[in-house]
Amino acid sequence: MLVSAARTPADLAALVDRRAAGLPLEHVLGWAELCGLRIAVDPGVFRPRPRTELLVRQAASLARQTVRAADQSVAPRAVVVDLCCGSGAVGAALVAALDGMELHSVDIEPAAVRCARRNVAAAGGQVYEGDLYQPLPAALRGRVDVLVANAPYVPTEAIGLLPPEARIHEPRVALDGGADGLDVLRRVSATAPLWLTPGGHMLVETSESQAAQTVEAVAREGLIPRVALSDELEATVVIGTRPALRSAPHTPAARRAL
Ligand SMILES: C[S@@+](CC[C@H](N)C(=O)[O-])C[C@H]1O[C@@H](n2cnc3c(N)ncnc32)[C@H](O)[C@@H]1O
Repeated sequence: MLVSAARTPADLAALVDRRAAGLPLEHVLGWAELCGLRIAVDPGVFRPRPRTELLVRQAASLARQTVRAADQSVAPRAVVVDLCCGSGAVGAALVAALDGMELHSVDIEPAAVRCARRNVAAAGGQVYEGDLYQPLPAALRGRVDVLVANAPYVPTEAIGLLPPEARIHEPRVALDGGADGLDVLRRVSATAPLWLTPGGHMLVETSESQAAQTVEAVAREGLIPRVALSDELEATVVIGTRPALRSAPHTPAARRAL
């Protein structure tokens, strides 16, 4: 990959030096692949991982069902929110997989937001900087068909065991999910019922060993949970669906967020 990226032998030597010094391959190349797409990835921004393809596949399938079920009088475009978007890879892959959608992506890290703007702006997506739901337009409340989040979920104590490419070259805020790894996922779940349309879906990436706790956190907020697994991708996604018949978010956390 470095050979095909280099224009001259001197170029190649510089790329090899950077890789040999420990910089992740995706940061040396300036891109990573997700779902067959090249996603621009700047140094210091989380590199999309192949396992996240499961999150994209599941979200795309649910967004397609939403559009098929849409009333004829309503524009058949799913409203999708990508929280903790990093480079914007998940949203960009969803735009490529669907015929049309309204995309809103959020990250707290300015470098990630800049990178995401490059990846999703061409597709007409909006990128906001801030903490989870805080920068989203209030007009989206109760209108989101599909909410995806590949939030940090590594338990704090396990950060030291990660390969140096992650530990040294990706920001801690992209990895550290708190004592049990679920701090951010719990916050995402707590307020999701407020933003999801009735029958809308929240999808979060997690690990197989954290799936049961993630399901509990999702169910606690009144969402109907299920788990999607891929052995091939070694990936786990927990999906929480807002019951279609409930007219208003009812959970204590959702009411507090109002
Ligand atoms: C594991 S990375 C995933 C990035 C991207 N979704 C992907 O799959 O490639 C998690 C991202 O969450 C962002 N993040 C962490 N805490 C956040 C918060 N409270 N609000 C918004 N973004 C946050 C980090 O900056 C990082 O870009």
